Amino acid sequence: MNFVDIILDKRYGRALSDEQIDFFIKSVTDKTVPDYQVSALLMAIVLNGMDDREMTTLTMKMASSGEMNDLSFVDGIAVDKHSTGGVGDKITPIVLPLCATFGVPGVKLSGRGLGFTGGTVDKFESVKGFNVQVSQEDFPKYLEKSGMVISGQTPSLAPADKILYALRDVTGTVDSIPLIASSIMSKKIAGGAQAIVLDVTCGSGAFMKTEEDARKLASAMIRIGNLAGRKTVAVITNMDEPLGKAVGNVLEMQEVHEVLLGRGSSDVVEVACALASRMITLAGKNDGMSIESLEEECKKRIQDGTVLAKYYELIISQGGNILPSGAPEYVEKPFEDIRVPATQDGYIKGIQADVIGKASVMLGAGRLTKEDKIDYGAGICFYRKVGDKVKRGDVICSLYRGESVTPDDEKLFDAMEMISDAITYSSEIVEPTKAVIDVLD
Ligand code: URA
Repeated sequence: MNFVDIILDKRYGRALSDEQIDFFIKSVTDKTVPDYQVSALLMAIVLNGMDDREMTTLTMKMASSGEMNDLSFVDGIAVDKHSTGGVGDKITPIVLPLCATFGVPGVKLSGRGLGFTGGTVDKFESVKGFNVQVSQEDFPKYLEKSGMVISGQTPSLAPADKILYALRDVTGTVDSIPLIASSIMSKKIAGGAQAIVLDVTCGSGAFMKTEEDARKLASAMIRIGNLAGRKTVAVITNMDEPLGKAVGNVLEMQEVHEVLLGRGSSDVVEVACALASRMITLAGKNDGMSIESLEEECKKRIQDGTVLAKYYELIISQGGNILPSGAPEYVEKPFEDIRVPATQDGYIKGIQADVIGKASVMLGAGRLTKEDKIDYGAGICFYRKVGDKVKRGDVICSLYRGESVTPDDEKLFDAMEMISDAITYSSEIVEPTKAVIDVLD
């Protein structure tokens, strides 16, 4: 087979055969094709798209380009959850124990943060002692202990996707529904998921800026999931403003604890319950309850401490430390450096999530390159959200760094300015943002 013919077929808008896609992914994985030819094919896919069969074949070939996790030891249906990325997204540490209270086995492979979106692995690592490098052979041991296990993705998971993603990043070919959908679904399938619940974010802090694009991405992933024999449901959620109050690793884990003490922001609780109720249903653990009743039951279990008890089990099972006060011990203490005041009277109209994400990276909470070290204590904590009435001078948020980290005033003031500019006001009443926009299945 000739790679140039594959490029030409896609350039002229023809569907690629399964054999051509197999050759493409094998050549990428074995590194027998130069980057310039792969880049040309990626660009042709961006411009001319792929049909459902092509996307599904691409997904399955990328999934099987490395090790496929075998979760057959799991007693029940292994349901995975995936977010297409956001700012302040601390849903996994809530949803995993929440689902476990219904007997849903929780096996979660997560990534580290890169760019302005955070990573679940970094968040769990901010709990002192928590081990995120669990080998697959040890999963059953952890599942027996707490019913849950969370681990970092290994390099052998869908290696073709890793190579392609790195190329897409530098060739202007990230932004393509077939490429994003197959990239995400390949990792879920390689991870062993038998059913998948997707949190497809939309807004300034998400890949998909508009609801229309988020719907297109969600339905592409659902079609791939169904063709690949994995029941898939997508919840479309708002990422125009950060989710909840905190952005940054320790700060977000502190917020998770607050949520599980029954004192969480309503948007976080709403998104967590929308996702969990679908995961519980797909796992067949809904006990005949409708989605609406399940969502209510999820809220109740968050409120009454049932989920907190499970969360402690997860933390302890993976070596994390819980203090006598009941709070997890963190690797760093967030130190409040500076506050951002409202610049006018009125209602908060917008808090642009992507800018907040970038400011938090500037403060040290995230990475620009994979090699960057993060400050676990750094980040931003919001006291006001979209729709809140404020007076000029009211504190909207505080900026933090780790107590042991040397302050960098220049970065701090740059971040403060960015954040202040990212907040807009209106003299008219503004409705709070709707956290869950729709559910597609
Ligand atoms: N997340 C992924 O895993 N892949 C993409 O292509 C985009 C977001």
